[in-house]
Amino acid sequence: MDIALLRESHPLERRVALTPAHLPALSASGITVRVERGAGAGAGFTDQAYAAQGASLHASSADAAGGAALVLRIRPPTLGGQHGPDEVTVLPEGSVLVCHLSPGAEEGLLEALSARGITALALERVPRTTRAQRMDVLSSQATVAGYRAVLRAAGLLPRFFPMLTTAAGTIPPARVLVLGAGVAGLQAIATARRLGAAVTGYDVRPAALEQIRSLGAKALEEDVAGEAEGGYARALSASEQEHQLAFLAHHIRPFDVVVTTAQIPGKPAPRLITADMVASMGPGSVIMDLAAETGGNCELSEAGRTVHHHGVTVDAPLALPAELPWHASEMFGRNITALLQHLVSDGVLELDLEDEITGAMAVTRPPPSQGAVTDG
Ligand code: NAI
Repeated sequence: MDIALLRESHPLERRVALTPAHLPALSASGITVRVERGAGAGAGFTDQAYAAQGASLHASSADAAGGAALVLRIRPPTLGGQHGPDEVTVLPEGSVLVCHLSPGAEEGLLEALSARGITALALERVPRTTRAQRMDVLSSQATVAGYRAVLRAAGLLPRFFPMLTTAAGTIPPARVLVLGAGVAGLQAIATARRLGAAVTGYDVRPAALEQIRSLGAKALEEDVAGEAEGGYARALSASEQEHQLAFLAHHIRPFDVVVTTAQIPGKPAPRLITADMVASMGPGSVIMDLAAETGGNCELSEAGRTVHHHGVTVDAPLALPAELPWHASEMFGRNITALLQHLVSDGVLELDLEDEITGAMAVTRPPPSQGAVTDG
């Protein structure tokens, strides 16, 4: 069975959905990969490295996708026009598309995919279950984002992270606060600790406070039980939010770096830092907002920009995993390999939409006979 690996067109994207190292395992499952030339270049994987693992190389996305039963990308395809090239009509009619479909999908994309009879499997919809854990790109990429966020903050901070005892005197460690201790936040805590900072973490889920402590960081404890079903956080009520902002306003002042990662699935990111709180922080301090794509945790964040207010740097990067493209692609590709092994048996694509993983991911699904319908 042939699958296509396409080059990403988004200006910030440097990752690729599979690396050459993943090809032997796919080959063992009867999968041959058609690679668009240059697909891995941004992450450091050459065309020759793919070819050496048995891939065929193709000059354009249309050539690579032509004849493939399944097409792999990282970001949603663009429809053509002001947002980028037409990346939908290169997809073979009736094929399967595997990529992120949110955030970033243009209006009308699902309808355009449906019209071509394409079954789109959205990577962000992989269920958070033990069985699907190996396929969960949200987790692997959040790990990269949490690590990268701290390095970015360290680069912007006009101070050392570690404590230093030198002939020129003793330098105290930077104080780092991480708001939201899910996958990205816990990696941010671990990374800031490795760099020698004094780290504090905060979350509304009591289980996360335990995890913060297990990494050797302090936990800021507030009397709120914000856990929802499935281990996620729930949106707080208006009075809980008011209480939370007052609590954080009281604690935020001494920190040199605040990394925010708070998300509520399917909702705008909760507001955790107001303009007044930014103004209360010391000059030179840094806020690193990882929730920029869903509206930001800080009132002053501007998605994709680094801005300065009252001497405080507010950074809201949009493509953190793409800043570490080699390992982000390695991890992404491992998730994709596990997903393909789930979908393909002895070289035959078996798309069982009743399966809890495949069914949850399918956002367009063709009915057996006529045209396709959208679902979700
Ligand atoms: P996320 O990206 O949805 O949110 C990040 C963090 O922000 C979470 O820890 C959340 O509790 C916190 N948060 C939300 N609202 C907040 C607020 N108002 N104030 C402070 N913090 C707030 O979370 P992520 O990283 O996806 O993980 C969520 C849960 O899912 C965790 O328990 C994690 O262990 C679990 N998980 C399970 C997986 C599996 O079983 N396959 C895979 C990945 C995560």
